[in-house]
Amino acid sequence: MKQDLYRQFKNLFNKNAESAYFSPGRVNLIGEHIDYNGGLVMPCAITFGTYILLAENNENLVRFRSLNFDEKLDIPIQPGYEKSGETWFNYPLGIFDHFLKANKKLQGLDLLFYGDIPISSGLSSSASIEVATAFLLNDHFDIGFTKLELVQLSKKVENEFIGVNCGIMDQFAVAFGEKDKALMLNCDTLEYQAVDSNLGEYCLAIINTNKPRKLAESKYNERVQECQDALKSLQQELDIQNLCDIDTAQFDQYKHLITDPIVLKRARHVIEENDRVKLAAAALAAGNLNQFGQLMYASHDSLKNLYEVSGQELDTIAEYGKTNADVAGARMTGAGFGGCGIALVKESGFENFKQGMIEYYTAKIGYAPSVYQSAIGNGVGILKELENSDI
Ligand code: GLA
Repeated sequence: MKQDLYRQFKNLFNKNAESAYFSPGRVNLIGEHIDYNGGLVMPCAITFGTYILLAENNENLVRFRSLNFDEKLDIPIQPGYEKSGETWFNYPLGIFDHFLKANKKLQGLDLLFYGDIPISSGLSSSASIEVATAFLLNDHFDIGFTKLELVQLSKKVENEFIGVNCGIMDQFAVAFGEKDKALMLNCDTLEYQAVDSNLGEYCLAIINTNKPRKLAESKYNERVQECQDALKSLQQELDIQNLCDIDTAQFDQYKHLITDPIVLKRARHVIEENDRVKLAAAALAAGNLNQFGQLMYASHDSLKNLYEVSGQELDTIAEYGKTNADVAGARMTGAGFGGCGIALVKESGFENFKQGMIEYYTAKIGYAPSVYQSAIGNGVGILKELENSDI
């Protein structure tokens, strides 16, 4: 892979790349639509991700090229940029914009991007490209932001330049991920622990619905707003900053403050899901994968019925899980509205699971999903360093 990227770089720019960076995508094991409510999430970095190769030019120009997309951009270094249309290069452009507006001195660069995360699959290709670009600029120009600052500024770019009001989970996971570890992240304090993913005889399967995600961004922002409305109602009597500052028992005591029935359902999902993450962490630590799996199913049902971000395709994935004795649990992962599901599957039964899932899903949905066995990999870094640690 790396050799081929270097060759492609040379073909495109007629010179050798000076360095290469990689940032992964992520899956979230449990804790969905929690990050922007200040609760607990449990994501892991995966081994699919974004590669960027670079060389300096002396022309004060940034050249963005991609092996995935035809659109390209040549643009001078200038005080800032605007988002343009819906093209892929808005993500790195937003990162450049942020660095330039923070008065960081950049020089002309030729950049080649390649990603092997399926686009719009809910595996965070956008956080991956943002964090990869931020890490690259910080490292190459020796700017001195901490990794956490790179995470925070990447989120800010997604919120303000791209216009999606996401929380911090994806950028955090792709930056801080560790091989064979899940991150237990508190999205309020940003304290985290990398815990052994400890799946025993199970492995993690990713099932891509292959459903194009239309309207996902506007629906996502609508959910964020509904949670803010719920918080505001609860704040009439409770001194809290986030929905996840209370647990299910407290919620039941104060839920009368929320009068809109839709907002009430959204808040119930968030607060119960946050409690589920605590139970899931204990189950994982105890090696109780069956209990972990049951919590995954409960999470899925809540995202389907209370949060209403699932859909027939994702529901079919969870539904098939229940019919296969080798599956401990399954659920949608990420924002929803299409994208991917995950399942905990006995490694010995993976091939049978894959076949069964493809048949069941195709019979219901009319086209096939893609099913992968996923490895848990490292976070962002310089490619040669990462290769030593076997991404
Ligand atoms: C998307 C967002 C994240 C998070 C998840 C849902 O991936 O980017 O911030 O809210 O959805 O858990």
